[in-house]
Amino acid sequence: GIVILDFGSQYNQLIARRVREKGVYAEIVPYFTKIEKLKEIKPKGIILSGGPASVYAKEAPTISKEIYELGIPVLGICYGMQLTTHLLGGEVARADKQEFGKADLIIEDKSLPIFKNMPKASQVWMSHADHVTKLPEGFKKIAYTDSSIAVIANMEKNIYAVQFHPEVTHSIYGSEFLGNFVFSICKCEKNWDMGNYIEKAVADIKEKVGDKEVILGLSGGVDSSVAAVLIHKAIGDQLTCIFVDTGLLRKNEAEKVMETYGKNYNIKIKCVDASERFLGNLKGVTDPEKKRKTIGKDFIEVFNEEKKKLKNAKFLAQGTIYPDVIESQSVKGPSATIKSHHNVGGLPEGMDFELLEPLRELFKDEVRKVGRELGIPDHMIDRHPFPGPGLGIRILGEVTKEKADILREADDIFIKELWNHALYNKVSQAFVVLLPVKSVGVMGDERTYEYTAVLRSADTTDFMTATWSHLPYEFLEKVSNRIINEVKGINRLAYDISSKPPATIEWE
Ligand code: XMP
Repeated sequence: GIVILDFGSQYNQLIARRVREKGVYAEIVPYFTKIEKLKEIKPKGIILSGGPASVYAKEAPTISKEIYELGIPVLGICYGMQLTTHLLGGEVARADKQEFGKADLIIEDKSLPIFKNMPKASQVWMSHADHVTKLPEGFKKIAYTDSSIAVIANMEKNIYAVQFHPEVTHSIYGSEFLGNFVFSICKCEKNWDMGNYIEKAVADIKEKVGDKEVILGLSGGVDSSVAAVLIHKAIGDQLTCIFVDTGLLRKNEAEKVMETYGKNYNIKIKCVDASERFLGNLKGVTDPEKKRKTIGKDFIEVFNEEKKKLKNAKFLAQGTIYPDVIESQSVKGPSATIKSHHNVGGLPEGMDFELLEPLRELFKDEVRKVGRELGIPDHMIDRHPFPGPGLGIRILGEVTKEKADILREADDIFIKELWNHALYNKVSQAFVVLLPVKSVGVMGDERTYEYTAVLRSADTTDFMTATWSHLPYEFLEKVSNRIINEVKGINRLAYDISSKPPATIEWE
């Protein structure tokens, strides 16, 4: 496959995804990965990613020149281009102005294999400050834009470098370009598809686990569910799942999970009702971070207690996916690796367990594909994300059972109506938030004094930035009427029209 050396660009995961979409395995490793390790991986091609640094900066991330002598094709993207130029004796100019946005790429020689199926002129996406001014020896400029040398190559040595970002969709033929590098230059074969993946994963799990037992914390979310079904396919009843009812779940969540995975797949699932413990420990807690910590701690404790009861379990399975892995090996230093999600915690100390993480190599969309191939129903695969702390961070102020019950009902109406109006799959994440604010209302002849709730619906692809969903007024009216009429405890509803940033998707 292809190895991507990570120099810290926000687009790195996209490079790997674009390559994988073509049916070729790609993995991301930090730029400081040792040459010996690269030789061990034996990639068919190496991609040097973009990154925020300037090659002239003190402590600019760099690599050994030996990389260009391995006989493996290299493609440098943006910073990867500047670094290649700099290391091989060319010149890079420091610019004080950024070139950011669309540009027109003009190809000099359309017959080159790296430009197969690309027109002479096409739109590409630029995001850089520095740029190449003098080529290293043996290199030729093979494409340009108005303001920069866009693609250079040493065709004898199969070293290519581009200033634009072929991995983003704003580069209209970027995907073709990457495909040409992967197939025409690196001579990769298509061997990455999810059917193969399942077969291989099942064999690996069988071999690793042998006759031992495995436990897994099943949340009902996509990752842990796909992991459960995949492991169950491999080892059947040697897998036990623990489903923790925190009292902060959505309506009928426990039933839904038991039905889908317990009944339909016959997976051994133990449903642990720990709601009193969670709600008890949340008494008086109003600070959002403290809530998260309290919930996270309870969760780990409950799970560990259950784990101890299973005498023969030797493996702890987790639905860790590739972005989690990349994040934890981030090149930006330890501060960037901190993640307060309690489900990616690794192994608690002193635990005599081995980790089993069969989705470690997969991106979210690949996990979904695996799930579909395993026959998990669409309505479970296409679910919106649900945070680990659950309704706990959607009840502002103190969390009580009474409030959780009110919120559960309102949330259920909102989600069901989204399904009824074929809107659920059009928005990325939708839910209701309960505020610690009461207001006056009138119901029949009676004055009411009840809670205010807020509908939140966000559109996003990466959850890092998001806009509020432009849901139709008629739809909002229907949801509002239903919630206010049917849910006792709520007499006023607002719609959140904040984008992220500066707001976040959740309210806490
Ligand atoms: P924010 O609110 O930061 O959320 O815009 C981005 C995405 O992350 C989810 N989220 C969490 N997920 N534990 C989780 O497992 C958490 O503590 C947590 N906080 C936010 C949120 O639902 C959204 O999808």
